[in-house]
Amino acid sequence: MRTQVGIVGAGPAGLLLSHLLALRGVDSVVVETRSRAYCEARQRAGVLEDGSVRLLRESGLAGRLDRQGLEHGGIYLQFAGERHHIDFRALTGGRTVTVYAQTEIVKDLIAQRLADGAAVHFDVSDTEVDRLTSDRPVLCYTDADGTRQEITCDAIAGCDGFHGICRPAMPAEVLTVWEREYPYAWLGILADVPPSTDELIYAHHRNGFALHSLRGPAVSRLYLQVDPAERVGDWPDQRIWDELARRFELPGWELKQGPVMDKGITPMRSFVSAPMRYGRLFLAGDAAHIVPPTGAKGLNLAMADVAVLAPALDALLKGDERPADAYSAACLNRVWRSTHFSWWMTTMLHRTPGADEMEAELQLSQLRYVTSSRAAAMSLAENYTGYRAQPSGAGLT
Ligand code: FAD
Ligand code: DHB
Repeated sequence: MRTQVGIVGAGPAGLLLSHLLALRGVDSVVVETRSRAYCEARQRAGVLEDGSVRLLRESGLAGRLDRQGLEHGGIYLQFAGERHHIDFRALTGGRTVTVYAQTEIVKDLIAQRLADGAAVHFDVSDTEVDRLTSDRPVLCYTDADGTRQEITCDAIAGCDGFHGICRPAMPAEVLTVWEREYPYAWLGILADVPPSTDELIYAHHRNGFALHSLRGPAVSRLYLQVDPAERVGDWPDQRIWDELARRFELPGWELKQGPVMDKGITPMRSFVSAPMRYGRLFLAGDAAHIVPPTGAKGLNLAMADVAVLAPALDALLKGDERPADAYSAACLNRVWRSTHFSWWMTTMLHRTPGADEMEAELQLSQLRYVTSSRAAAMSLAENYTGYRAQPSGAGLT
């Protein structure tokens, strides 16, 4: 078999890349180990930066997003028994984020790719990539019927997430890796109950962090900081609701409870691997970098990577190597900004096990500063809605 770009992984990065390439007339094949139903049901992110929304709109993918997405002009930060509003619109000259689940983006992308007649192969196994430094790299896999397939490509995109095979296919000596594991995890639930808030609440509490997000007028998404060693079985539904109610407690406000439809525990880490290219293999999204979810950046980074990669691959196939050569550095700038912001939000809002009173007071001081200084709130707002570096250096001299 032959294609121009072989894409490993049908997450947001791989599917969106396939679509953006098709808009440029570039042919691709996507291979995915999981089933279509699994990819469409996997509960993950929910917040899109305005740049991600614009990208989806400009590439003709925002029909349902524009009808069902919820535009939010801020978030709440809660600590020491008080809830403070950070008003993104006022702080950033009108910028907002949109709450629209990653599962819905994946459903929209799969439907669009299949309607356009694209090759998206689910339920594959034993994916391998080879001849990466030649101009005909190959992508091999066993298809759902058990037949071994080999696709000769012009380039391969590794969009196979943190546990994929593409990053390990790069020689270890060409990679530099930065990694930090955090001593806590998130227990996330999807609940069949109307949200108890109009905008997301990020709560810092002595028992740990909690986040109230939403999925629509009748569905809530909530997260609790838990110990990474804990299992979902340790957390019966009522224990979760009781702990959420404790961490969000505020006089005159009540957390509505309802049936829990999905429950999962996610470890938290920061991870960056560079460069994001080796020969004709290009990494995008979680395959190259992971951020802890507190800043709502992972999905947005994955989309930003492929927005750079699609034109770079198009140029490469037409004989211009310069955008492909610039790909890694162009992405890593944004990746490090988001890595810092996510680390900052995470360490400000979580309780570090074993931390002393000094650290607790430093966190509270930081939270008081962010909610009382316009400059500090503006910094949070411009990072959360999506930072765009100003070439002029923002007028600083
Ligand atoms: P993935 O979504 O991981 O997709 C990779 C795909 O590759 C998968 O479908 C996988 O099955 C497939 N694959 C793996 N190995 C192979 C193989 N060998 N062969 C073929 N296919 C393979 N980000 C945000 O921006 N905002 C948020 O609010 C947010 N909240 C989050 C909350 C939680 C609880 C979690 C877990 C994550 C959150 N994120 C958030 C992060 C976001 O979900 C990820 O960054 C995003 O999924 C990255 O997309 P991706 O396409 O790079 O990788
Ligand atoms: C959601 C997830 C996040 O990590 C976050 O920071 C905000 C919202 C969500 O799933 O809705």
